[in-house]
Amino acid sequence: MSIKRTDVLRIAVLASGRGSNLQAIIDAIEAGTVQAKIAAVISNKKDSPALERASRHGLSGFFVDPKPHASESDSRGSYDRALLSVLRQHDVELVLLAGYMKIVTKVLVEAFANRMMNIHPSLLPSFPGLDVQKKAIDWGCKVAGCTVHFVTEGVDEGPIILQAAVPILDGDSADSLAARILVQEHKIYPQAVQLFAEGRLRVEGRRVFIEQGKPAGEAAFGLS
Ligand code: GRF
Repeated sequence: MSIKRTDVLRIAVLASGRGSNLQAIIDAIEAGTVQAKIAAVISNKKDSPALERASRHGLSGFFVDPKPHASESDSRGSYDRALLSVLRQHDVELVLLAGYMKIVTKVLVEAFANRMMNIHPSLLPSFPGLDVQKKAIDWGCKVAGCTVHFVTEGVDEGPIILQAAVPILDGDSADSLAARILVQEHKIYPQAVQLFAEGRLRVEGRRVFIEQGKPAGEAAFGLS
């Protein structure tokens, strides 16, 4: 993909639901702690609160309807080609999945290799997939957390950029744990975007190295 280089990193956020991570990125950009511009917010859900958040902040929001693609033999690939076209129209350099509830295909993974991130509410590689806060509690884990990683074809499998740990308390429910993890998600996702914007992320195989100085903030690696 050819990129029209601009002076500020152009990002797109793909979100299906509530959009609190999108909001954290918006807030960080507005506060000046992340140097980037949200060129597009895209959802596969017409009534996604994420699109409402985009509109409240004057950002371009797009509902890309999966239905016209559903009858095609390669329906997921066909949908992702439609997304790719929107991303290209907006000169997007970095794609952020933020509660995006569709599995992305190699159409997007290859076009945005090492330029697409996801946030996941567990300490990967433990507990990929869904309902992971409940799974961590049921397993008897003492520590849970969240992970920002680059997106590869395997779900929740890509190289890890940042993680934050959150203790599991005796009285925790899936909801109370999820709420405390979410606080950390809202810190490390903007941090990861800023590291990318500064060109400080170097990927070697499965490992992501943060170049120059210390890693992005103490909260990213300690117990909170
Ligand atoms: C977050 O917990 C994120 O880690 C997971 O989906 C949830 C999305 O929440 N991938 P929100 O839509 O950003 O509020």
